[in-house]
Amino acid sequence: MGEINIRRAAVEDAAKIVEFYNYVGGETSYLSFEKDEYPMNVKEQEEEIRSLEGNATNIMLLAMDGEEIAGIATIHSSHKIKARHDGELGIVVAKKYQNQGIGSELIRQLIEWAKGNGVTTRISLDTRADNVMAVSLYMKFGFQIEGCRKNSTLLNGIYYDLYVMGMMIH
Ligand SMILES: CC(C)(COP(=O)(O)OP(=O)(O)OC[C@H]1O[C@@H](n2cnc3c(N)ncnc32)[C@H](O)[C@@H]1OP(=O)(O)O)[C@@H](O)C(=O)NCCC(=O)NCCS
Repeated sequence: MGEINIRRAAVEDAAKIVEFYNYVGGETSYLSFEKDEYPMNVKEQEEEIRSLEGNATNIMLLAMDGEEIAGIATIHSSHKIKARHDGELGIVVAKKYQNQGIGSELIRQLIEWAKGNGVTTRISLDTRADNVMAVSLYMKFGFQIEGCRKNSTLLNGIYYDLYVMGMMIH
């Protein structure tokens, strides 16, 4: 592995991003989508990235190993006045890049960005309760388990609980 460089997504990254999400969707069962189930095509992804330019409360960070995406982390916020302070965090690091601190660095940079954007005061996320690695990683950064959506995921005939996690940022 070369040095990992974390930067914002650019429109030219759209095809790689869609390919990455469709690939990791099959690599882990912890994401909300399965292999090839990522809901955006390249055109839609390009639009999405364009919409991030100059957007105070939405961001997509890529962890790059040279030209290869190692991980992606996002914060999405509603445009609605009453909800825009609350950003929803999403993160995935490809299996071969896990446990090398990339996820931690992505979250650290997202929190840093959120603290500086002048709007976000809270970060939320949902994660499967049995995703021990993710839950402990989030708790390391100060997220708390605020609730549990019982049986919210159904996979191969087995129900899984989702934790609703969140934290205020200052
Ligand atoms: C969760 C995820 C983003 C973490 O990324 P990562 O780059 O591997 O994270 P890091 O290397 O920064 O940190 C991993 C931490 O988990 C710890 N860890 C590893 N295996 C663990 C286990 N079985 N149980 C508990 N902790 C574990 C590591 O020790 C490390 O903690 P530390 O910083 O205190 O040493 C990544 O595993 C991932 O993408 N998983 C699949 C998709 C997913 O679950 N996304 C989140 C959906 S909500």
